[in-house]
Amino acid sequence: MNAISSALQNNLAERAKNITRRELQVYSDRTAASQSANLRARKVLPMGVPSSFQAYDPYPIVVKRAHAGRIEDVDGNHYIDYSLGFGALFAGHCHPLVQEAMADQIQNGTLFVSPCEANAEVAELLIERYELPMWRFTNSGTEATMDAIRVARAITGRDHIVKVEGGYHGHHDEVMISMKPALSAAGDASDPTPVPATAGITQAVMRDTIVIPYNDAEALERVLKSGTVACFIVEPVMQNISICLPDDGYLQQVRDITRKYGTMLIFDEVKTGITAGWSGASGHFGITPDLVCLAKSIGGGLPLGAFGGSQECMDQITSGKVLHLGTFNGNPLCMAAAKAVLSQVCTKDATAQAIMRNQSILAECNAIIARTGIPAHTVSLGAKGCVTWAPTQVRNYRDYKATDFDLAFAQWIHHINRGLMLPPGLDDQWLCSIMHTEAETRRVAEVFEEFVEELLA
Ligand SMILES: Cc1ncc(COP(=O)(O)O)c(C=O)c1O
Repeated sequence: MNAISSALQNNLAERAKNITRRELQVYSDRTAASQSANLRARKVLPMGVPSSFQAYDPYPIVVKRAHAGRIEDVDGNHYIDYSLGFGALFAGHCHPLVQEAMADQIQNGTLFVSPCEANAEVAELLIERYELPMWRFTNSGTEATMDAIRVARAITGRDHIVKVEGGYHGHHDEVMISMKPALSAAGDASDPTPVPATAGITQAVMRDTIVIPYNDAEALERVLKSGTVACFIVEPVMQNISICLPDDGYLQQVRDITRKYGTMLIFDEVKTGITAGWSGASGHFGITPDLVCLAKSIGGGLPLGAFGGSQECMDQITSGKVLHLGTFNGNPLCMAAAKAVLSQVCTKDATAQAIMRNQSILAECNAIIARTGIPAHTVSLGAKGCVTWAPTQVRNYRDYKATDFDLAFAQWIHHINRGLMLPPGLDDQWLCSIMHTEAETRRVAEVFEEFVEELLA
C-alpha cells in the first residue's frame, strides 16, 4: 500500500470539509424544486418526511419517478440509485415480472382478510431458502422483530432480551435502545449502558433490554448466565453501522452459547435477507437461528415482512399461546410481488450475477485505496458493499464511531452531485440490484476515483 504523507493525512478532514462546502452549494443550485417541496412538506409533516430516517442534511431530494437502477428527482436530475430504498429493492425499481404479478393481482382484489393461496406459496419459497419450517407475514421489519421477540418470550417464559450496541431492529420500544447512543451516555465499551434512542420508552422496557458489544461472545455468555434471557436478537452481519462483519467463529459461538442457556437466537435478516446470498446471511455462514426476521427486499418494493421459526417456536402461535395478528398480513398484492421476487426475479443465478457485479466494484475501489493510501477500506456482504473511512476493520459500534464522518459526508455529497445516489445516512451501504447494468456498476468506482483524486490534489 502507498502511504500518504502524515501532513496530507492530517489535512484530509480539512480538505473534506472544503469539498463539502463547495458541494453543498452545488446541491442547493441543482435541487431548487426539492428544496421548495421540502419547505412545503415541513408545514404539514414533522421534518417534512413520512419517516425520520428520510430526513437528511441539507434536505432530501424529492423523487418523481424510478425505473430499474435509476431515479429522477423533481428537478429532473437523474441518479443511479445504489440506495434502493435502504436496500429494499434488490429486484430494482419496477421489475417487469414484479409489475406483471402486481397488475394481475390488482384485477383480482388487493385485500381479502381471508387467506389466499399465495400465502402458502410464499412461505414455501422462504422454506427453500431458510432451514425453518413455519412462517408468518407482517407489514414491516419492525413488526417481524416485535413478533419474533414475543414468540421467544412465550416459549422461554422469560422477560429479558439482549441486543447489541448500535444494532437497529425497527421502531418498537424494546429495540429502540442503544441504537446509536452518544458515547458520553454509553458507559463502558465492554459492558454498555442501555440508552433510550427516543423519548417515550418506559423504565419497565429499559429494565428488560440488555445491551452488549457485537463480536464479543464472552459478554453474551456473561449476560445469559442469569437464565432470565428470552432471546438474543442480532443482525448476523451488522448493516446499520455501514457493514460490520462477524469475527471468524463468532456466529457459531453465539449459536452454541444461546443453546447452552436455553435462549432463543433471533437473526434479524431484514437487510441481509436475500441480498447476502440466495439464503441470506444464515445460509452464507451456515448457522440456523431459532427465528429469522425478513422484510425489505422480499417485497420487491411493497411493504412486507416475515418471520420464520423452528416448529417448536411457531407452535406457540399454532396453539394460540401467542397471538400474531394484522389486518394486512399476507395481503394478496404483497404476496404476488413477493412470489415474483422469490421465484422469478431474485433467482440463484440473478443473485450470483449481482454479487459478481458488486465484487467488481469492490475490486476497483480497493485498487484505488491501495494506489493512493487513503485511510479507508471496503467491506462487503453478497450484493452490498461500502467504503468505511478508517484504516482498519470495524468490529463493533465503538469502532464505527471512530470512523471519519467528515470524509464520509464529503464523499456522499460529492457523489450525489455527480448522479450517484449512495444511501444518505452514512450508516447504510450500497446495494447492487438485479437490474443495474455493467455501465452503472462501473460508475461507482469511477466517481469514487474522482473524489479521491480531488481529496488528494
Ligand atoms: C436490521 C433491521 N431490522 C429491522 C428494520 C425495520 O424494518 P422496517 O423499516 O421495515 O420496519 C430495519 C430497517 O431498516 C433494519 O435495518
